[in-house]
Amino acid sequence: MDSREFAQSIEHQVTEFCKTLDGKLPAYSYIPLTTDEARIRVMQSRLFNEIRAGEIFGGWLKSTPELDVKKTLAEATHEEYEHAEFLEEALRSKGATPYDYQPLPAQIAMFNAFEGLTDTVERIAAFPMAGEGVADYLIAKSLKAGTVPSWVTGPYQRIHEDEAEHGNYPFEILVKYATTPERQGRAARAVAMSLALRRGYFDNLDRWVYEGKSY
Ligand SMILES: [Fe+2]
Ligand SMILES: [Fe+2]
Repeated sequence: MDSREFAQSIEHQVTEFCKTLDGKLPAYSYIPLTTDEARIRVMQSRLFNEIRAGEIFGGWLKSTPELDVKKTLAEATHEEYEHAEFLEEALRSKGATPYDYQPLPAQIAMFNAFEGLTDTVERIAAFPMAGEGVADYLIAKSLKAGTVPSWVTGPYQRIHEDEAEHGNYPFEILVKYATTPERQGRAARAVAMSLALRRGYFDNLDRWVYEGKSY
């Protein structure tokens, strides 16, 4: 398959996944939440994600031979820690302790799985494209909902602007490098893995936020 066609097929797969969330939005999106206590839990969980995202992007640098991708990952690493600061500030403004949080099983698995990927194309497809694609889809929804309080939408407005600013870089990386059937096959499987683990994470988070289920 031509690499642009391949990138489009991955994008389509992510869009289809996003649509399946619309019927019952996860707590992760903040939209169904009615108390600050619940919103704090979700934000603590998502702060952990920012920290882990930075660790993973940074950890991939040495084993990324493509200089342009290296540079993109280095920038993304720094950006994730800026996002962490926005969320830390918002949590402190509510009197919450930002890092008083135990990661959920599927959340640990998801990031450890990203960390274990070895090829540039599968990494970019699984995490920046599929993982962050789903996250940003739900951020956009929460900003538009009109029912999420401003202490939550404030930091996410800034995060959303960052995501919009670097445009669709994962797509361009796939177009440039997903040029062999082998690379495309690995990337497609990594995307399927990413989405399955994300669904697991959303389920774990719902159970913790709504039922207090902890591990
Ligand atoms: Fe990001
Ligand atoms: Fe981020």
